[in-house]
Amino acid sequence: MNIACEALSRPTATASDVERWRSDFPLLRERVRGRPLVYLDNAATTHKPRAVIDAGNDFYAHYNANVHRGVHTLSQRATDAFEAARLKVQCFINAAAPAEVVFTRGTTDAINLVAQSFVRPMLAHGDEILISAMEHHSNIVPWQLVCEQTGAILKVVPINDAGEFQFQAYELLLGARTRFVAISQISNALGSITDIERVVALAHARGVPVLVDGAQAISHVSVDVCTSDCDFFVFSGHKSFGPTGIGVLYGKAARLRAMPPYQGGGDMIRSVTFEKTEYADIPQRFEAGTPNIAGAIALGVALDYVAAIGVDAIVTHERDLLRYATRQLSCIPGLRIIGNAKEKAGIVSFILDGVHPHDIGTVLDGEGVAIRTGHHCAMPAMQHFGLPGGTARASFALYNTQQDVEALVAAIHKVRRTFR
Ligand code: ALA
Repeated sequence: MNIACEALSRPTATASDVERWRSDFPLLRERVRGRPLVYLDNAATTHKPRAVIDAGNDFYAHYNANVHRGVHTLSQRATDAFEAARLKVQCFINAAAPAEVVFTRGTTDAINLVAQSFVRPMLAHGDEILISAMEHHSNIVPWQLVCEQTGAILKVVPINDAGEFQFQAYELLLGARTRFVAISQISNALGSITDIERVVALAHARGVPVLVDGAQAISHVSVDVCTSDCDFFVFSGHKSFGPTGIGVLYGKAARLRAMPPYQGGGDMIRSVTFEKTEYADIPQRFEAGTPNIAGAIALGVALDYVAAIGVDAIVTHERDLLRYATRQLSCIPGLRIIGNAKEKAGIVSFILDGVHPHDIGTVLDGEGVAIRTGHHCAMPAMQHFGLPGGTARASFALYNTQQDVEALVAAIHKVRRTFR
């Protein structure tokens, strides 16, 4: 059993634990505009621990070779490491088999794969796909494309003014024409956590398959695809301390086996003649071309890193930070937090009276504080709150501290002084 299997539940972090974790991330020692970096843009991407950086370098320095293609030693080493990474992902999300783990370029790639390969062939004119009002564009646009291609209709489950998924409306929208549900577990713009098990159970009761967008969930809440019983679960490596350009599509084996390939090319075939090509079994069927080998290996190391700390400890730490930040920010005159769901991850979106979010971001950058501003690739969620300019958003990871929150608050006071 690897580390990822052993250590998903460890007790809460102490301040010295957090200091130790911070020391694993070289980038956190950088200075920005002459100040120590306060990095609060983890929903956009996380930094990488030394072990992850080394894993990618080690591949290129010592066993760079293509996978599944060579009998030579380097190719076998690369293949073994690549497939070991798949096992780590399987274990981390509790999939039933490694074949249920498809490496993709990221969340967006994985959603497009499911949209085109699983959903599109089953749709007829007038069929319906359900998403929610707080989805990221990557869980909206692929479904709009499929609707344009088939004449299907995109239906949207509303949210309330706290930013919570409305289950009553969801049940009413789940109808005879609903063919698929695609919902994010955590909203990147608002931080709301949606009860995915309930979403899946209600859809399955009507025979409707479900994709869970786990881009913000992975490494911030415990993910167990067996318990949630979702049909598909997708995430990106770079939001979970791994590299960019690598991600995962989990699919139940029976679902994946029933799907035609998404892209054709090398490594996804059993045999090719000009008359007929036989496709490889899953997961290779969906991994045409040379994959991001170094990325997959480094992602495996990132998940080992998270598992060694323990997702439970991370959840508790980020919840403490969220509570502290919410309290501190709420005391700032003219500041309004957008998204007050009862169940929230470590993401705080806010606006400040009379100041455009981009101006907040610019002043904060001058103080060394990195946040994201604007629509967060979730324009419809911003429209729900009547905020075409979007919000300012601070998002936490395991290496953030109360001092980071205090630096954020101090920098916001500077914004207020600047725009008085
Ligand atoms: N989806 C990323 C974010 O929320 C880029 O910032």
